Amino acid sequence: MSANLTKLAYQSFHQSKNYFSVAHKTLSKQIHKILYPEFQPKITPLSGEIVEEVQKRLNDLLEIDWEDAQKGIYPQSLLFENSWEDFFQYYPVVCFDLLQVWERIHKGRYQEFSPEIPKDIYPSYYLQNFHYQTDGYLSEISANLYDLQVELLFGGSTDAMRRRILAPMKHKLEVFTDIPQKQIRILDVACGTGRTLKLIRSALPQVCLYGTDLSPNYLKKANSLLSQILGELPQLAQANAEELPYRDDYFHATVAVFLFHELPSHVRQTVIEQCFRVTKPGGVFIICDSIQLSDAPHLASVMNNFYQTFHEPYYHHYMTDDLSGYLEKAGFENVQTQVHFMSKFWVAHKAILC
Ligand SMILES: C[S@@+](CC[C@H](N)C(=O)[O-])C[C@H]1O[C@@H](n2cnc3c(N)ncnc32)[C@H](O)[C@@H]1O
Repeated sequence: MSANLTKLAYQSFHQSKNYFSVAHKTLSKQIHKILYPEFQPKITPLSGEIVEEVQKRLNDLLEIDWEDAQKGIYPQSLLFENSWEDFFQYYPVVCFDLLQVWERIHKGRYQEFSPEIPKDIYPSYYLQNFHYQTDGYLSEISANLYDLQVELLFGGSTDAMRRRILAPMKHKLEVFTDIPQKQIRILDVACGTGRTLKLIRSALPQVCLYGTDLSPNYLKKANSLLSQILGELPQLAQANAEELPYRDDYFHATVAVFLFHELPSHVRQTVIEQCFRVTKPGGVFIICDSIQLSDAPHLASVMNNFYQTFHEPYYHHYMTDDLSGYLEKAGFENVQTQVHFMSKFWVAHKAILC
């Protein structure tokens, strides 16, 4: 009985986050229409069937999220976590920032950065206002707003999608049972604000965690989040995923969450080769990213609307790109895929040398 009540509380909590994000999107669309009546958005209205399908996929995600917690893959308390402090502090800023976002959309300005941001040290494909975000990934304010903006996009389910890496990761790490947990090393490539590292820490409290990202401000935000939790602080490093600063065969598990749709195709291959290089023989590499067209052709309008509304310059190509092919070309074997809600997972193995 009490488990049923807890499950109901979990479902209600998540559905209310979803309703909040729907209300946010509806209201901001209305305000946008009032302020810019002449603007014609390039999006396809979603049919009732598609909205129902998206809701069903969300319900399925919540179900598996609940079940994995019941199986002990991660603590049940994770299901009820929310960054309330960030929400109250930054939600008004997100709303206020919409005015700048709309200006950027209307003027077609999607490579716009504050003058103090050094631009010559980053690859050119990275110098974009992804999601039309102010300063792209390159300022403190962007780092503070990012998680909230992504939560509004995904109806509060972002961590539930990220958590889907934990079951395959724990399962694949079983090949290293003779190694003490404290000697297991896990790398999160493009760790952003550290959400995935936090989830891994909850599921595997003793392992050594590492995170890299190109954005110094996102790494600072990650450091502040991760220093609040128990356990050894993950080692964070500013690095391009195309040149990971680690020796060969170093990590028992490597992950990359919501990175690949933001890379041009040739860079996707290079990053996968780097992940192969730093993963140990016997280890696992897990990608979590957006679903692709072949996973849900009937959701093509949702995917098309996404890259047109959120300035995602590499997403159209990503929708049909063959990541399994890149993984195999890099040397990974036994590549398996799964799909949950709006996310897709590739679980790839690096063979043990005989
Ligand atoms: C959509 S965010 C995902 C962040 C995080 N993994 C998450 O789950 O929220 C993409 C991240 O990739 C980082 N990034 C993009 N290109 C990169 C590259 N070439 N090397 C390292 N990080 C990169 C960005 O700075 C940003 O933090």
